[in-house]
Amino acid sequence: MSQSLPKPLVAHRSGPLVGRVRVPGDKSISHRALMFGALATGVTRITGLLEAEDVLNTAHVVEALGCGVTRVGGTFEVRGRGVGGLTQPRADLDFGNSGTGCRLMMGVIAGHDIEARLVGDASLSRRPMRRVLDPLRRMGLTVIDDRENLPLTIRGTSSLLPIEYRTPVPSAQVKSAVLLAGLSATGETTVIEREATRDHTERMLRYFGAEIRTEMRDGMHAITVSGDAELAGRPVVVPADPSSAAFLAAAAAIVPGSDVTIEGVLVNETRTGFYTTLREMGASVEFANPREEGGEPIADIRVRHARLKGVRVPAARAPSMIDEYPVLAAVAAYADGETIMEGLAELKVKESDRLAATAAGLAANGIGARIDGDTLTVEGRGTPRGGGTVVTHMDHRIAMAFLILGLGSDRPVEVDDVTFVATSFPAFTGLMTGLGARLEAR
Ligand code: S3P
Repeated sequence: MSQSLPKPLVAHRSGPLVGRVRVPGDKSISHRALMFGALATGVTRITGLLEAEDVLNTAHVVEALGCGVTRVGGTFEVRGRGVGGLTQPRADLDFGNSGTGCRLMMGVIAGHDIEARLVGDASLSRRPMRRVLDPLRRMGLTVIDDRENLPLTIRGTSSLLPIEYRTPVPSAQVKSAVLLAGLSATGETTVIEREATRDHTERMLRYFGAEIRTEMRDGMHAITVSGDAELAGRPVVVPADPSSAAFLAAAAAIVPGSDVTIEGVLVNETRTGFYTTLREMGASVEFANPREEGGEPIADIRVRHARLKGVRVPAARAPSMIDEYPVLAAVAAYADGETIMEGLAELKVKESDRLAATAAGLAANGIGARIDGDTLTVEGRGTPRGGGTVVTHMDHRIAMAFLILGLGSDRPVEVDDVTFVATSFPAFTGLMTGLGARLEAR
């Protein structure tokens, strides 16, 4: 995809956004459903899988490791090979743009007697892998190349050692990679994290039959998985992605007269920091009809426009909204007063340096923004000027966040390349225009 021509798109000031829609399946849960299905025996049937580039790359990797993946109507069926049963791939494993696919799969491969060369696009090839490779090396993974970036060749082993690992950065990807490796170790593997990160791995592993327990230890979260695990294929229903829904919610919050409901969205509290913040800013955000689907809480999220005020977003909230800061920054430009977002170190190592890309996009559109260390401050002035072109740096969330910015600004906002939106949310433009957003080719 990185080779295709850049595709610019322009967002114009729009009338009220009104409607009831469904956004595609959660990306985190979709990756996990495919991988856990591969590690289970029997068939795992997944409905609502996110059919976007990142997840489809994971599906291809699962196939390359010896598992059947077929689409039967709206359901994906994975014929798993059991923990320890994956087979030697015959070609490079290509993760495209996806850090989640790549890092979690490193944990899976670690527990198998196979050697694999992992590759990705230019964005993924810049992202840090040592955070995952360090603990996996301690467990017995061999990293053939002396690098910390893709392309990397790694060799797993069927005799991994269990470890206790305290994560140096708040990262569900690191936690998940270690827990997945722990499935094939002999004995108990424990991950300790200071701030709770998204817990889909824990929930879904338990659902597939792994022995897993979570407890507080000295104020930290300890998650322990038993090794020599056996997983059994189970049906998985993937709820709608709250990180994708955030773009629609943000648009409804900033465009006067809007009233948008997004159905069946995952509202697991390790993922809802953005909605909490939107409420604190004064938007009307309701979680209607709360229910459970596939072991996860879901609700219909209704957002209505309101006058917004700037707020301080504490660092402790960052893990629960880490992917939503670019779009929150766009919303903050519409508030009265400053919005101060703290604890954003991890934003620098996403699909792009999102801290820098967000600040640059705001500045290009006449919005005051400053970075002090890991803090981003945005000056809200009610209606932003707009009129700028935003550089997306192969980053889907930067592209979508700045298209949202343009829906209420005085002048249109141009995004230089929306190609990468397909990595997580191919239906984005269609859903937005269906609600009344004016997104047009240049
Ligand atoms: C993800 C975890 C987060 C998030 C990413 C998906 C996951 O990354 O940014 O989009 O599915 O585990 P980190 O855990 O590295 O912060």
